[in-house]
Amino acid sequence: MVTRRRVLTQGLQAGAALALGGFAGRCLAQQTPPSHADEMIINSAPHARTGALLPATPTPAVLPKETQAVSGANSLQAHASKHGLVAGTAVVVRALQHDPAMQQLIAEQYGVVVPGNELKWVALRPAQDQFNFTDSDALFEFAKTHHLLVRGHTLAWHNSVPEWLQKSPKELDVRKLLVDHIHTVAGRYSGRVHSWDVVNEAILPADGREDNLRKSFWFERIGPDYIDLVFRTAHEADPHAKLTYNDYGVEYDNPDETARRAAILSLLRGMQKRNVPLHAVGIQSHIKAGSPSTIGKGLADYIESVRQMGLEVYLTELDVNEDDLLFNDVAERDKEIAKTYRDFLTVALANPTVKSVLTWGVSDRNTWLNDGPTHFRKQPNRPQRSLPFDEAYRPKETFFAMRDCIDARKA
Ligand code: XIL
Repeated sequence: MVTRRRVLTQGLQAGAALALGGFAGRCLAQQTPPSHADEMIINSAPHARTGALLPATPTPAVLPKETQAVSGANSLQAHASKHGLVAGTAVVVRALQHDPAMQQLIAEQYGVVVPGNELKWVALRPAQDQFNFTDSDALFEFAKTHHLLVRGHTLAWHNSVPEWLQKSPKELDVRKLLVDHIHTVAGRYSGRVHSWDVVNEAILPADGREDNLRKSFWFERIGPDYIDLVFRTAHEADPHAKLTYNDYGVEYDNPDETARRAAILSLLRGMQKRNVPLHAVGIQSHIKAGSPSTIGKGLADYIESVRQMGLEVYLTELDVNEDDLLFNDVAERDKEIAKTYRDFLTVALANPTVKSVLTWGVSDRNTWLNDGPTHFRKQPNRPQRSLPFDEAYRPKETFFAMRDCIDARKA
């Protein structure tokens, strides 16, 4: 049987070879989900194809020669799989839709994808009595076509509460609505999700509570036990996915992030004490070039504490915001951005409990850091060069920094 572990160990090339041997057909025939995510059949799909936005038979694309040179055995995933890691990226389905080159690039470079927005409440729930799975189904189909694992993101996030829900009357049973949502969404994709970011960004010390919980919509309407509820319900809906608590602001050695790390660990310890199903911790990894703070002992100790709790760590949304760089020269900026990746990954990848590294996007053509009006940015009219591939999908210094750090991993 072809399991996730085997495919990850052998890398994408092996996965592709299996595909040629009828792997996809065997996946469809697999009905009983495995008991553990590590034994997961990659994207065994119990559902019929619905609303496919992305082609089942990819259009061959011609990637630049520099990009072809880093495919196959030279890809991020091929290197990652030799060091106990899976390499991945966030994907925006509508951006991928008419872009065969991007589809090919993702298939060649990565072993796992995460939908950037498509599984969030705002995307899935246009109205209280409606679900829209068009884009998320397309993402799962894309992953199946290319034998990629899928991370789920996210079931409860303060920043993706639809307007109709925010404005809902006090009498609405939000607890029941949330539980039903999780059963429907996590249930729909049960057995096909490697790991779920069950709760995203629940900690905010600045909100002034003793337990450091963010006073989010979910917190206000359900109470502090909403976190346990969401994890328990997710486990019922998909007992195979690794349930992940995902948060930002834990990367740097500074007082603010020291407090955030302590607060998150305390939340997680409490959950373990209460026997809440929890398998992993996501470190978003939105880091900054030219930051006055450094990355070192704080992050290393945090990851080690998580390891000692028996949990895995995933680097879930890595990118570099370069707004603070005051020089404009592209080569100089790329060098500094790559150094920032290196400083972070050298520390983060040193611990064997770190099992995956995903960037929040593939190429500078598409980064959330460029969303919104440019005049709000510190460097107006200067698109960010935050990701491993440039706008023409050529690998940048960042790509090579990532690959070097993966190769340097002793774990
Ligand atoms: C971002 C998306 O990339 C944007 O397109 C969207 O407008 C807002 O959300 N942390 C997270 C992600 O956990 O879900 C966020 O994604 C980026 C920050």
